[in-house]
Amino acid sequence: MTPAAALLAVIGLCPAVHAAATTVFASSFAGSTSTAVFPPPGVSVTSAASDFPDATQINVFGPTPTGDEAFAIATAPVSPDYTNIFPLVEPATSDKKNFDVIHSWGNLSPFQSTNLGLSKSSAKIPADCTLQQVHLLHRHGARYPTSGSAPASFAAALHAAAETGNLTASGPLAFLNTWTYKFGAEILTPFGRAQLFELGVGFRVKYGDLLKGFTDLPVWRTTSEERMVDSALHFAAGFFGVQEYQNDYHQLIEIEAQGFNSTLAPYDQCPNANNAIAAAATNFTNQWASIYLADAQKRLAPHFKAPGMTLNATWLFAMQQTCAYETVALGYSAFCDLFTEEEWKGYEYSVDLSFWYNNGPGNPAVAAQGIGWVQELVSRLTQTRINVTESASSVNASIVGSNVTFPFEQPIFVDATHDTVISAIVVAMNFTSLAKTGPLPGTHIPKNRSYIVNQISPFASNMVGQVLSCPGLSTSPISSESSGIASASSTAPSFLPSISIPGDGSTPASPPTTHIRWILNDAVVPLTGITGCTPNPDGLCAFDTFVRGMQQRIEEVDFKFGCFGNYTVPNPNLIVDGQVPGGLRAGM
Ligand SMILES: *[C@@H]1O[C@H](CO)[C@@H](O)[C@H](O)[C@H]1NC(C)=O
Ligand SMILES: *[C@@H]1O[C@H](CO)[C@@H](O)[C@H](O)[C@H]1NC(C)=O
Ligand SMILES: *[C@@H]1O[C@H](CO)[C@@H](O)[C@H](O)[C@H]1NC(C)=O
Ligand SMILES: *[C@@H]1O[C@H](CO)[C@@H](O)[C@H](O)[C@H]1NC(C)=O
Ligand SMILES: *[C@@H]1O[C@H](CO)[C@@H](O)[C@H](O)[C@H]1NC(C)=O
Ligand SMILES: *[C@@H]1O[C@H](CO)[C@@H](O)[C@H](O)[C@H]1NC(C)=O
Ligand SMILES: *[C@@H]1O[C@H](CO)[C@@H](O)[C@H](O)[C@H]1NC(C)=O
Ligand SMILES: *[C@@H]1O[C@H](CO)[C@@H](O)[C@H](O)[C@H]1NC(C)=O
Ligand SMILES: *[C@@H]1O[C@H](CO)[C@@H](O)[C@H](O)[C@H]1NC(C)=O
Ligand SMILES: *[C@@H]1O[C@H](CO)[C@@H](O)[C@H](O)[C@H]1NC(C)=O
Repeated sequence: MTPAAALLAVIGLCPAVHAAATTVFASSFAGSTSTAVFPPPGVSVTSAASDFPDATQINVFGPTPTGDEAFAIATAPVSPDYTNIFPLVEPATSDKKNFDVIHSWGNLSPFQSTNLGLSKSSAKIPADCTLQQVHLLHRHGARYPTSGSAPASFAAALHAAAETGNLTASGPLAFLNTWTYKFGAEILTPFGRAQLFELGVGFRVKYGDLLKGFTDLPVWRTTSEERMVDSALHFAAGFFGVQEYQNDYHQLIEIEAQGFNSTLAPYDQCPNANNAIAAAATNFTNQWASIYLADAQKRLAPHFKAPGMTLNATWLFAMQQTCAYETVALGYSAFCDLFTEEEWKGYEYSVDLSFWYNNGPGNPAVAAQGIGWVQELVSRLTQTRINVTESASSVNASIVGSNVTFPFEQPIFVDATHDTVISAIVVAMNFTSLAKTGPLPGTHIPKNRSYIVNQISPFASNMVGQVLSCPGLSTSPISSESSGIASASSTAPSFLPSISIPGDGSTPASPPTTHIRWILNDAVVPLTGITGCTPNPDGLCAFDTFVRGMQQRIEEVDFKFGCFGNYTVPNPNLIVDGQVPGGLRAGM
């Protein structure tokens, strides 16, 4: 018996495995979708509730004294790096190279601490500064494929071929003869839940001391999709603890659906995020796939015989994606070591191309999508309500207009969002260092490219704005006259959480807010693109200068035209700022 047939015998199936002289045909179920349901149908926790009183009913907790808050970001000698991928098994490459396959998956890689050039600095609070406030924007954790993605199409085509009885896969592909598609869609995987729990734990250990500055419960935001709710709750459970989190904060859930305003899902209020403009990367990714997967096709296609299906670049790309998804969903994937180190580098670059032209600096509707969150950021930093009549964008007037749903006086802000939203917001904020090596070619991987999606929008990606008091540092703000914009109404947050809040509840003297900086996946972002922010080894920018820069961005980014304008993507596409080039906008 072949190993495949033996396995089928073990699991009690009798598929159409008819062995010709040397050919093993696939089972007829190859590529079919298998799912499992838990808990078993018809049972529930409530049915036996009286036999299982909960902890408060038992009420024998033992001693429960609480301790002081941690503040590792200020007190530890270094900022802790995050590298954990447990329980995922690091795949091998087909050419047996010592290569980090798991972090070559772009937006499908798990977050790890990265470096964006300011390698002498870290997220640790600079010695001359005290931390006053943080703004966390994070992505959800690892999920199943989104609906209609490449792995599902691959499985469907494979299954159609298997059903004819004439599919045969051999050599390295023999596993396909009995492979089934085990994904759901959209929702978090167990590993994805762990990522957000750990992000919450990490945030409490690093920034917990800021909780002392709250006078009301925190209001943290996410959107209504299942994985977004789940991510926010796991973050909160990690941050506050599972027995506490439901009493420790308010979770604001913004509706994520077409036509609804939410800066955390801005594509739902942006037609050009949902038409051909949003697919501007297709030419580039197709061209690149035909190049970087050519060898893989030569190597693997001969092992795959199926009526109407050849292992071309489309299917090989889908198989690489399936490797990534299976690993983060199931812990391991047989697809991964079909590919060489070069092919994994090629895959990563194809994700970079896709984001650059669809969701990043090279797409003319992207700055418009990110600018709503920037308006909210400025609103929070200046404690000034957004005038929604004036500032058209994806902001939701009823949410940002209320001090209940959009409070200002928070030492810790937490917003949950998506990969393509983080990639839009960094464009809207003019983080130009990410785009500094320019438009990406579809023909080859440029040396030293600055745009790497694995650093921007991996699963559980997180970006932290640190508002600081660094009285010893010169702020050298530019005058509002020379910046060419109306005088900024920026004032420091007035509540000013402090690590030295007295235990008697009296208000400590407020240190002045002087600087801000941004930490993307633990790497300090060089604020190269923001008018007036001068080069600084710790990525610091004077607070008022930064706020004026963001206000200037809000002026510069044409939300209405970017999202609603009738234009085509220029060819060649040399856009690097996520906006329709000025010349093409003028006619509107
Ligand atoms: C499958 O193979 C058999 C035997 O060679 C052939 O008769 C049949 O037409 C094939 N079916 C398809 C869909 O290719
Ligand atoms: C704003 O958000 C609220 C709360 O989610 C929602 O009910 C309302 O429909 C939203 N408004 C718009 C215009 O999307
Ligand atoms: C994409 O490729 C098609 C076909 O080659 C071409 O007609 C089109 O202009 C290209 N579009 C862009 C934006 O490069
Ligand atoms: C690969 O084959 C499928 C049909 O099986 C086809 O839809 C797809 O366009 C092909 N891809 C390429 C790059 O030729
Ligand atoms: C909001 O902007 C509009 C249009 O510029 C203006 O008429 C209105 O007075 C502003 N509202 C507030 C509260 O500032
Ligand atoms: C929703 O967004 C649109 C812009 O797309 C804006 O015109 C409208 O005022 C917003 N509505 C609310 C209630 O926020
Ligand atoms: C919130 O707004 C209401 C109504 O404008 C006001 O009465 C209340 O004092 C505000 N609360 C805070 C905490 O600012
Ligand atoms: C790439 O970066 C390395 C190290 O910073 C540098 O030595 C090299 O010249 C760079 N290459 C290109 C093509 O920019
Ligand atoms: C944003 O960057 C562009 C260059 O891409 C620059 O022209 C513009 O002035 C910058 N905006 C701000 C507010 O610094
Ligand atoms: C967009 O512009 C093109 C060319 O000017 C025109 O044919 C098309 O009808 C316009 N579409 C919309 C939705 O206005």
